[in-house]
Amino acid sequence: MSLDPTQSDASMRSLAMRQRPRRNRKADWARRMVRENELTVSDLIWPIFVTEGENLREPVASMPGVDRLSIDMAVREAEEAARLGIPALALFPHTDPSLRDAIGSEALNGENLVCRACRAIGAAVPEIGLVTDVALDPYTSHGHDGLIENGAILNDASVAVLARQAVVQAQAGAHVIAPSDMMDGRVGAIRDALDAAGYEDVQIMSYAAKYASAFYGPFRDAIGTNATLTGDKRTYQMDPGNAREALREVALDLEEGADMVMVKPGMPYLDIIHMVKREFGAPTFAYQVSGEYAMIQAAALNGWIDGERAMMESLTAFKRAGADGVLTYFAPRVARGLKAGG
Ligand code: PBG
Repeated sequence: MSLDPTQSDASMRSLAMRQRPRRNRKADWARRMVRENELTVSDLIWPIFVTEGENLREPVASMPGVDRLSIDMAVREAEEAARLGIPALALFPHTDPSLRDAIGSEALNGENLVCRACRAIGAAVPEIGLVTDVALDPYTSHGHDGLIENGAILNDASVAVLARQAVVQAQAGAHVIAPSDMMDGRVGAIRDALDAAGYEDVQIMSYAAKYASAFYGPFRDAIGTNATLTGDKRTYQMDPGNAREALREVALDLEEGADMVMVKPGMPYLDIIHMVKREFGAPTFAYQVSGEYAMIQAAALNGWIDGERAMMESLTAFKRAGADGVLTYFAPRVARGLKAGG
């Protein structure tokens, strides 16, 4: 638009009339043709919860539509996920309370729930990627991600255990180790431990910018840590007021050998996803966490929003922000919808 003061009103008007952004929106074919970002099934990582038992699906009350699955059921879901074209699953265990202790010993048991699930799924569905969570919270009696002494989370002692946990998971067939604990230096320690054990090809997806968030509540129901967690995780997870610090966390994790980085939660932190992708260009993932899922589901089940559309819109936002993929509990529903051409 010209700022020339001699320009007549008439030519200003005609300029405005030449530019009609609505023309590209007038029909579905045109909207599809100019669309900048689109969600595909290859963008999806499906987090699932496993529990002891057989032929068992236990609904998670705060996550309508999500169940804890016994390993045999998880194998069936993995087969379905592979049929749908979902590239990878992220596994989280609901550990029996009797197996939780102060130091999270069960995390290092090569026959623990997650390790058995990895072996079973890997044998039945070798084409699907398996992402495992490195952190001690499903295994500790206090619900924290690391070791604790006099109320303080110990960094380096925790890192030593987490590195061993990563190797145990790699031995069980995990393809991607995903440390969610937020201890300093854990990515480097995990990389060294994996390499020393002969797992040079096992990838690391680090929860690089993970915030101390209220949106994890339903997940803690699912893995049973709302009951155990003492205090909060603010001395290791990031402060929600910080953005530049996320870049520092990501830089450190990439230097230490992370193959992919993650921002978590998702929707409240779209600015962080955008900054991380622009600054580093590394494979960047968003985690649409349990609370985000629960909010959409709750509103949809009340008839307050169109759940299907809110699901697609929220996930497309991650792509627009720059994410290469999203961990989402909606993964199979999205995949089915995309397959049906919806
Ligand atoms: C813990 C972990 C959490 C989630 C993934 N790994 C919760 C926490 O930090 O307490 C949250 C995922 C979700 O809310 O969906 N290591």
